[in-house]
Amino acid sequence: MTGDDLPLLRTAVPGPASRAWVDRLARHECPAITARRARRAVSIGAADTDPIVWDEAVGANVRDADGNVFVDLCAGFGVASVGHRHPAIVAAGQAQLARLPHAMGDAFPDLRRIELLERLCAVTGMDRVIFGTSGSDAVEAALKTARVATGRGRVLAFTGGYHGLAAASLAALGYHVHAFREPFADMLGHHVDHVAFGGDWPDLTPYAAVLVEPIQGRGGMREPPAGWLERLHAAARAVGTLVIHDEIYSGLGRSGALLAAGALRPDLLCLGKALGGGFPISACLGTSAAMDAWGASTGEAIHTQTFLGNPVGCAMALGVLEVIEREQLVARAATEGAWFAAALANVPGVRAISGRGMMLGVHLDDSLGVTRKMLDRGYIVLPCGERAEALGLTPPLTIARAQLEGAVTALAACIGSPA
Ligand SMILES: Cc1ncc(COP(=O)(O)O)c(C=O)c1O
Repeated sequence: MTGDDLPLLRTAVPGPASRAWVDRLARHECPAITARRARRAVSIGAADTDPIVWDEAVGANVRDADGNVFVDLCAGFGVASVGHRHPAIVAAGQAQLARLPHAMGDAFPDLRRIELLERLCAVTGMDRVIFGTSGSDAVEAALKTARVATGRGRVLAFTGGYHGLAAASLAALGYHVHAFREPFADMLGHHVDHVAFGGDWPDLTPYAAVLVEPIQGRGGMREPPAGWLERLHAAARAVGTLVIHDEIYSGLGRSGALLAAGALRPDLLCLGKALGGGFPISACLGTSAAMDAWGASTGEAIHTQTFLGNPVGCAMALGVLEVIEREQLVARAATEGAWFAAALANVPGVRAISGRGMMLGVHLDDSLGVTRKMLDRGYIVLPCGERAEALGLTPPLTIARAQLEGAVTALAACIGSPA
């Protein structure tokens, strides 16, 4: 398995080894996680419901427990932007692991964290950073910062927006609200209003922040109309409301630009997913005007975590930023993404392509069924959109052209073929 390989299937999908692992999984993991996905597949009448169980990955390839080789068109939820197991990032992580796997968050920082603070600010043009371990952490840090900086408590977010499932981010979620948010409604704050993504907004005066994905990821790889984000910025600025860009999915080159919002600088910027090259690390970046409202620590750090700025995560993130630059992955995402989008648009049965760069939604009938058929042919894809109306394609930015061609051929074969 080189990372650039086409699928090589030795067994049915999933094979017997994957099925045996899933049986073990189902005995002990909370059913809200993988098993629930299986039940949903049953409820929509999919022929097979078990997932494959991953064993190894490199580049754009994943090998499962049966030795089947797949092409990962999701980059593991958008994490493996530089490819799975990139050698430079593995080396950076291993070296740091052998030296200092853990420091002491807010109490005793370490070298890598300080280097990453500097590097992240240099590449994004932001001034200050709060690290976290998940995307939800970054969103939570941004919301708290907005509260501190403005003294206001309300947040405006958008339908179709996905910001994570921890309490603060869940309150702001506008995607599959019935499934994700409603069961916990009485334990969540009621300080968030939702309006249509790309549509009008109310008077922003009461709001601490507007929380927006410049390109909605899970919501369907959706871009707002041209100029909408700029107008939203101007309206927010006029009344002292902060703008938070959630670029956890779209950031770090995926959209064909380093940041999907381009030169439009938010007050607060959330990054995660691809940042750690597979290590769970996220960042909320801010302008000094927004972040300095926190004031100096008076003894207790009032926003911190045990694993804040973990040294291994910071070392790997430094590696990711270097690889993105050295391998010119932002430009690659733009050019290969444009080729991929054009090729996908020509597949009979594809109604539309949304998104840009390596962040594409392929809109078609029966995207759930096609998702499963693609897996049967060795291509890992996920549905996206409020009604699962599209396939979400977010491959590694390093994916080989032959793998993209293979995906287009497989999609043409899957659309319209019997289940
Ligand atoms: C735009 C966006 N924000 C936030 C999150 C939440 O990140 P995490 O699952 O790491 O908490 C996601 C996850 O998919 C996301 O796509």
